[in-house]
Amino acid sequence: MSGSRVLGTGSALPRRVVTNAELAETVDTSDEWIVARTGIRQRHIASADETTSTLATAAARAALADAGVEASSIGLIVLATATPDNTFPATATKVQAALGCQGGVAFDVAAVCSGFLYALATADSLLRTGMAKRALVIGAETFSRILDWEDRTTCVLFGDGAGAVVLEAPSGEAGGKDAPGILGTKLHADGDQHDLLYVDGGPSTTQTVGHVRMRGPEVFRHAVVNLADVLKEVLEDNGLTPDELDWVVPHQANARILDATARKLGIAPEKVVVTVQDHANTSAASVPLALDVARKDGRIKAGDLVMLEAMGGGFTWGASLIRM
Ligand code: UT7
Repeated sequence: MSGSRVLGTGSALPRRVVTNAELAETVDTSDEWIVARTGIRQRHIASADETTSTLATAAARAALADAGVEASSIGLIVLATATPDNTFPATATKVQAALGCQGGVAFDVAAVCSGFLYALATADSLLRTGMAKRALVIGAETFSRILDWEDRTTCVLFGDGAGAVVLEAPSGEAGGKDAPGILGTKLHADGDQHDLLYVDGGPSTTQTVGHVRMRGPEVFRHAVVNLADVLKEVLEDNGLTPDELDWVVPHQANARILDATARKLGIAPEKVVVTVQDHANTSAASVPLALDVARKDGRIKAGDLVMLEAMGGGFTWGASLIRM
């Protein structure tokens, strides 16, 4: 059977842009180091009146407009975030209220940078069961609120933003790799790697929000191996080779990870959507943000074969193959 179809995409970014040069005024770093090691040139940072839910709502509205459907037709909202407005209730319920589509299902998913892949797979599965006809899948973060601005090894890497996708339940018609929809998804987690990338606080441990801690070079090595492996897994499952992909939309953590992963699989660099220079690492928001950028600038078109992939804290990682 065919998978859930992408009807539209949208994204939202905080008003304020912070360049590497501006950051270097208060952090012991330089534009040269950040660009050479990560490819990042700037990031958007949320102001006091911008939260994960306001960014998520703006991205959701843009996705609904792009899809040409009303909020009232949305029966399911799955929102991926590691920076919710409140510990509870789920930020998805705030978005639901803001959109005025109360009554359906709304909840958050926590898988950090791979959160959007986990949310997409969850929404696709629920739509296939008939739980709802249409879903909003959102990745939204205000990582700036959990950064230690004294720690130059992490604070220069992240930014804030949101991306959203409107998904429609499978039509019930016969599928096949040319039919629009999600063709296949693979998700993984390895809880042994918890301490390489985590937040050193939480309600049940310190009763504080905590700050991001990362052993960067070790995460880097795992990222390249895990992402290349999961991409191969999804391609093999679908009887495809890397050169049959039109686009890869990766999690935007580091331009060097994107290059190394593409090289490992023999994917041409020009098929990889790269937005890390403009947004930095926006965690769960990065994949839907990059997808929206590449659709709106005309690169990704209807009928294209697109691979989404991400890896983050946990570790968690995954990839999803979509015929647009
Ligand atoms: O989103 C989830 C997944 N996250 C990732 O995938 C992130 C993966 N990791 C990375 O992207 C990279 O490891 C980093 C960008 C975090 C770091 O790059 P690196 O090339 O692995 O650098 P490093 O950590 O080995 O540090 C090299 C040097 C060190 O100095 P010494 O010890 O060689 O003297 C650091 O102290 O760079 C120094 N350094 C900095 N210098 C200027 C670290 N951060 C900075 C900084 N500005 N911001």
